[in-house]
Amino acid sequence: MSSYDVIFIGSGPGGYVGAIRAAQLGLKVACVEGRATLGGTCLNVGCIPSKALLHATHMLHEAEHNFAGMGLKGKAPTVDWTQMLTYKSETIAQNTGGIEFLFKKNKVDWIKGWATIPAAGKVKVGDETHDAKHIVIATGSQAASLPGVEVDEKIVVTSTGALELGKIPKTMVVIGAGVIGLELGSVFARLGADVNVIEYLDAITPGMDAEVARQFQKVLTKQGLKFTLGAAVQGVTVKGAKATVSYKLRKDDSTHEMTADTVLVATGRKPYTDGLGLADLGVEMTERGQIKTNGSFATNVAGIYAIGDTITGPMLAHKAEDEGMAVAEILAGQHGHVNYGVIPGVIYTHPEVANVGETEESLKAAGRAYKVGKFPFMGNARAKANHAADGFVKILADKETDRILGAHIIGPMAGDLIHEICVAMEFGAAAEDLARTCHAHPTYSEAVREAALACGDGAIHA
Ligand code: NAI
Repeated sequence: MSSYDVIFIGSGPGGYVGAIRAAQLGLKVACVEGRATLGGTCLNVGCIPSKALLHATHMLHEAEHNFAGMGLKGKAPTVDWTQMLTYKSETIAQNTGGIEFLFKKNKVDWIKGWATIPAAGKVKVGDETHDAKHIVIATGSQAASLPGVEVDEKIVVTSTGALELGKIPKTMVVIGAGVIGLELGSVFARLGADVNVIEYLDAITPGMDAEVARQFQKVLTKQGLKFTLGAAVQGVTVKGAKATVSYKLRKDDSTHEMTADTVLVATGRKPYTDGLGLADLGVEMTERGQIKTNGSFATNVAGIYAIGDTITGPMLAHKAEDEGMAVAEILAGQHGHVNYGVIPGVIYTHPEVANVGETEESLKAAGRAYKVGKFPFMGNARAKANHAADGFVKILADKETDRILGAHIIGPMAGDLIHEICVAMEFGAAAEDLARTCHAHPTYSEAVREAALACGDGAIHA
């Protein structure tokens, strides 16, 4: 048994980042993790493995579709799925091993096992109970279930099973046109599967700028994904090696079916706090099963804090990381803070889709006067040279003050390009500030500058 200033429960991006920051700030820190490797969902069965598969299949797509036009002749490679899964596992191992190294370097103790909290100030793992002045719950989330759908992780899978399929399915139905459905749907479409996405709403990617969502759907359709929108899935039945999804079209209540080798359920995630003993401790929860916290991540029970997917806000690794750092700073007596107005979101398809801040829809709803500066990648020399001219950058700025309120990008490296806008927003910049900043030529980032110019006297290359 040991005694700590703070014990983080869970080693995902929230817990491990918080633990490292707390240790850097001079606290005695442990992190409890029951999985065989550190890193939580993100590193083991989420962000990182999916990015490996997205990268490998994008290479395949380039070879199949763009190489010949660039004078690169020869047959496109064939797919060795087992080797692709090995590459994915190696990517995971490098990253999870990296966290283990960082824990050692920063003197964070990894307590191996699953934690319960018998009382404030106590964390029990196996037969040992550790003392902790502060406990931070960072246990993440799990796939939400859907009534009438039983996941077996073989034929009817969540993202976890989809990353481990025994073979590439010929046909796949994806339930939910959110981030997971579209990223993994893209992977399997590139690998040759016939992918049908069924979505409850009338548009893909709920909450995203509507113009970007429409363009995104067009691009994905061109890549072979098929969409059935406005359709509520009623249930899934498995017979032999196939699954049949039944769904109702909302417009006329008619019932339909679709059969496939694999059904991916991607209808959202929910906080994972099972087994911690929160009910016995009297920790207050929201009606959506999240842990209630105040602005300093404190629960109603003194000494117990919560961050990341277990509390409100977007379920994103980097939001959890920021909260991990902020709570560590607060526990070390500093003024940790997260600016929820500037949290980027990225979908790692090809092209990528990225956003930050307000959408046109949210600004209209708030009655705020705004202007739009838009620039298509067709006007960007680098994008044209790289066969990556699908998409655009759109910056929303206050009509009066020119302050940047939000940005939406669909196009090459959108997930990286968004960050200069995030930094600008953190500094309360006007679109003109971006427009007057010299951008290297030829880069994709010039499209960001051009969109900023379009908020003023006009873009040059449009
Ligand atoms: P999501 O919330 O992004 O999308 C779920 C979709 O399923 C919604 O469009 C919803 O309308 C639809 N849906 C719900 N019930 C349905 C039904 N019965 N029939 C048809 N459609 C239905 O959830 P997703 O994609 O599962 O992702 C979970 C979380 O993980 C999200 O918060 C996401 O932001 C995060 N994530 C983020 C990634 C990234 O940042 N690149 C990658 C993967 C996940």
